[in-house]
Amino acid sequence: MEKIRILAIDTSCDDTSVAILENDRVMANIVSSQIDVHKEWGGVVPRLARREHEKMILGCIKTAIKRAGINLNDLTAVAVTYAPGLAPSLEVGIRWAKKIAKENDLPLIAVNHMEGHLLSVFLKNSSNKYYGNAKKLEFPLLALLVSGGNTQIVYANQMSDYKIIGQTLDDAAGEAFDKVARMLDLGYPGGPVVAEMAKKGDREKYNLPRPMSKTSDYNFSFSGLKTACLYQTNALKEEYKDDFKTLINDYCASFQEAVVDSLLGKFFRAAKKYQPKVCIVAGGVSANNRLRKKFANKLKKIDKPVYFPTKKFCTDNAAMIGLVGYHKYLRNEFVKEIDMLDREPTISIEEEYLNK
Ligand code: KG4
Repeated sequence: MEKIRILAIDTSCDDTSVAILENDRVMANIVSSQIDVHKEWGGVVPRLARREHEKMILGCIKTAIKRAGINLNDLTAVAVTYAPGLAPSLEVGIRWAKKIAKENDLPLIAVNHMEGHLLSVFLKNSSNKYYGNAKKLEFPLLALLVSGGNTQIVYANQMSDYKIIGQTLDDAAGEAFDKVARMLDLGYPGGPVVAEMAKKGDREKYNLPRPMSKTSDYNFSFSGLKTACLYQTNALKEEYKDDFKTLINDYCASFQEAVVDSLLGKFFRAAKKYQPKVCIVAGGVSANNRLRKKFANKLKKIDKPVYFPTKKFCTDNAAMIGLVGYHKYLRNEFVKEIDMLDREPTISIEEEYLNK
């Protein structure tokens, strides 16, 4: 079998990541996190994100190549995230991808970050085994892509034929985790720490809304839940003063349950209606163990397998961009004029293939 070696870059938000793939197998995946830089602001600051990407990217490229044990002239193509994401962040990765492609006379492949998340469950290790629990890449598939910037349900009839059948009308689920963590003074990013505290908490202690659970569409809303949490935590802080800390585990457990129920309610209905062969949950929030357990149990009732990425590929990484790049390479989908490739901060996975 021909060996396609792709160098992939993702700088869509606050992680600088470079990976090397050989076909669908990951040879190296380097991630330089900016969490410490953005932590004190409680969220990602675009200007600082660009500065950090500029600082880290060359080191990440060199380390990825070294770790994969290859040379630049072993590469077949370069893949880069060009959409969606923060414009100043995307620009850095695109500029470096163009430079490497031009200097080494390699084709350039433009990748949509959300397609990366969707395919992340199908990344393989060097022994040709899926990292996560995936068994087979099959269509049609139904995916919940749930991260700090997006929450959407995508139906895929086949590769590159995507339809967003539902999405958040306001905040993303990961953003809700981050904002509630901030209300509880738990730091940034909120998801992992809220999940950790929730392990020791009572999920039924606080009654929190499941916004839009009764609507017949497949959309979500998390801003109402966030506002309910704000009023409730303010009232509890007032009432309990210094003892408020003792309520945090229960609060995290109740909040996490509300988010998971909201996501699962809509996704389950969509799975019953669309009858996919497989279901996927991917993106940063898919690292959540409670979510994994509830999704797997519920979807089992209608005989649908649900695939999750291995934990390190839930949050942003270039390996998943390389995998999309590999499939695009097989279909000859290259950037026609390298100099003309520009960042597209808002192009969705569905728009990606329209008119192409
Ligand atoms: O995919 P990702 O890196 O997203 C974006 O760049 O948008 O995901 C980051 C998001 C953050 O909002 C973070 O709080 C959330 O994923 N997250 C989690 C967990 N781990 C990360 N949310 C819930 N439970 C987790 N275990």
